[in-house]
Amino acid sequence: MAMADTERRFTIAQLSDLHCGDLRFDPGLMENCIRSINEAEPDLVVVAGDLTANGYRDEFEEARGYIDSILCPRKVIIAGNHDCRNVGYLHFEELLGPRASSMSFTHSGACGRHLSERVEVVAVDSNKADLDDGEVGRHNYTFIKEEFSAEVTFKIFVLHHHLVHIPGTGRERNIVWDAGDVLQVLREARVDIVLSGHKHVPYVWPLDRMYLITSGTASTWRTRGFTPPTFNLIEVVGEEITVHVISASDGERRTEVYPRWWCHERFAGYGR
Ligand SMILES: [Fe+2]
Ligand SMILES: [Fe+2]
Repeated sequence: MAMADTERRFTIAQLSDLHCGDLRFDPGLMENCIRSINEAEPDLVVVAGDLTANGYRDEFEEARGYIDSILCPRKVIIAGNHDCRNVGYLHFEELLGPRASSMSFTHSGACGRHLSERVEVVAVDSNKADLDDGEVGRHNYTFIKEEFSAEVTFKIFVLHHHLVHIPGTGRERNIVWDAGDVLQVLREARVDIVLSGHKHVPYVWPLDRMYLITSGTASTWRTRGFTPPTFNLIEVVGEEITVHVISASDGERRTEVYPRWWCHERFAGYGR
């Protein structure tokens, strides 16, 4: 029997910049996000950093409580520059786990003619202690290459900072210092999507055959211009990647659909 479209769909919820403890944090927005994400029943949740305002333990405990109420068996959580303030990365490690991680799993949905999706997720810490600037660092390149060396159908890289400038984020100071080198590592690894947070502007940059997908702030009014608080729901089905940017205040969504380039190339020999 043919698999229903909803069963084939591989869904990722991407949220970031919770900023628990910030004056502009709004618990109602956070609860809206969690409710929407739980309704979507994603296969993977990525929290792309800045869980707190200033890296204090009580802020991490609050963030941890919210993240625990997201009902998903697979979560990838990284720290942001705000979390690493005041030696906050020590609390992050104790309450949320290691600052760099990788995860692989199989999802029963199909890329092209394949019956299952083999997914690899690699997440790194791009923060510099007590600086807002970011850097992935040469020491991480080997880790990234090795983790992405397995034959999989979908590769996801996660970091807090940006790899390319994003419109509406002001004077450039948000790109990691070694963006060029990191992009080359990811391109050679044939990464499909890169998930980031940081400056509270949701955006998708197609770059070569990767998509750099940034999430806005999920739960604060630390927003820019007319951009509302948002989170992203990313659906991978067949040969397309659909990105929904969803407002945390009223649920309104902006949807964009992109082709899966690496998918086309990887499986070019499978009868297409
Ligand atoms: Fe932030
Ligand atoms: Fe940030």
